[in-house]
Amino acid sequence: APAAELVVVANRLPVDRVVDAVEGPGWRRSPGGLVTALEPVMRRADGAWVGWPGQPDIEVEPFEFEGTHLVPVALSAEEVELYYEGMSNDTFWPLYHDVIAAPRYRRLWWDAYVKVNRRFADAAAGVAAEGGTVWVQDYQLQLVPQMLREARPDLTIGYFHHIPFPAYGLYSQLPWRRQVLEGLLGADVIGFQRVADAGNFARAVRRQLRYQTKATGITVPEPDGSTRNALARAFPISIDTGSYIELAARADIRARAAEIRESLGNPKKILLGVDRLDYTKGIRHRLKAFGELLEDGRIDVEDVTLVQVASPSRERVEAYMQLRDEIELTVGRINGDHDTMGHTAIRYLHQAYPREEMVALFLAADVMLVTALRDGMNLVAKEYVASRTDNRGVLVLSEFAGAADELPSAIRINPHDIHGMKEAIMRAIEMPAAEQGRRMRALRKKVIENDVATWSRSFLDALEVARTAKRAKQ
Ligand code: G6P
Repeated sequence: APAAELVVVANRLPVDRVVDAVEGPGWRRSPGGLVTALEPVMRRADGAWVGWPGQPDIEVEPFEFEGTHLVPVALSAEEVELYYEGMSNDTFWPLYHDVIAAPRYRRLWWDAYVKVNRRFADAAAGVAAEGGTVWVQDYQLQLVPQMLREARPDLTIGYFHHIPFPAYGLYSQLPWRRQVLEGLLGADVIGFQRVADAGNFARAVRRQLRYQTKATGITVPEPDGSTRNALARAFPISIDTGSYIELAARADIRARAAEIRESLGNPKKILLGVDRLDYTKGIRHRLKAFGELLEDGRIDVEDVTLVQVASPSRERVEAYMQLRDEIELTVGRINGDHDTMGHTAIRYLHQAYPREEMVALFLAADVMLVTALRDGMNLVAKEYVASRTDNRGVLVLSEFAGAADELPSAIRINPHDIHGMKEAIMRAIEMPAAEQGRRMRALRKKVIENDVATWSRSFLDALEVARTAKRAKQ
């Protein structure tokens, strides 16, 4: 295959492995927004995507898929356990989400993380064209920028951090805090979700590495005594808004929304939560508030139903197993106390659904509850807003989600304040149509203006500026 001008490196490939009874094993495009956003860019640039196929021990040669050259990186079952479940999701994930769960620091995990990051970097170095651009994605691959720069100084390197970057007081717990900062600083452009994340990163660099930071970037010393500039700033990610608008217009999906309401017994109000089953999402806090509203008699099970979709995630990590048990116990208790033969308090679904069904759910829901304790962005908030082409519905949004920076017209909550959250939910349930419309129009404007194509364009533009500056220096 020809060398690629643009290479994306992510933990996961943009495809899922499927095994058809007749056709045998094959690949299907993953439903994620990032994948949809980058597809046209990758096509134009004859791009390549380096990533893990999502299952242990799958060794496949690079192949073409819908205009993109895919380069699979194989992980053994042990590497999945140490690098992915361990270091990525039992150390970095909880630490970067403000230690909502206790991070575990294990040297064995770190060693595997270094080794696997090296493998991704080698694969990217092998496929990138001379003078090309590489865009590394997320916390699973924080060492890749520096490794790549050492192997291929000709490349322009970007890194985007999809999750929060914590305050230095927390970050400094990390035994490998210096190596990770140096790993990230291998990039010319380091993107974050919120301005606060970029600020936390710059502060960590100042305090740990003593580098100078300015609005225009971080001054990084080079081995030969010269310096270079690394830009760290916010590029809030978004969704492919247009595709949600199209789905929301489809007659079959609108009919499905009506069918969903019907199947819940046509309650007066449907509340909705949609999350990966993750302790960062504040699902327990949400259930607590909802349960108390029933308990207090402020809402009635005949009138109000909560639909909670909690899609299975990282099921072999202990904290996730524990959370699932807690949630299911709580749901069972609330339903046991309040259900009637014809009505359920909480319709709990531990499942993942295709986009069509999600949009039908969004259209069926009067109130969308996003109660994250910490969240890089939270795209579900944006998906709900994008789907509400009828300018109805209310978004209740945690101030601890990145989306809160861009969506001030939502009802803003602090999920730790159960009393406040209950009042917010009541206000959402009782909100007059005119106010719903006013708020939803303002929310929609934001999500239409900044969609995921705008996001990728602005990041790649910043990389292009870095590339030009680099050329001028040479
Ligand atoms: C978050 C992360 C992504 C990750 C996704 C799903 O959004 O930022 O990097 O891919 O969760 O998690 P998983 O562990 O299944 O890839």
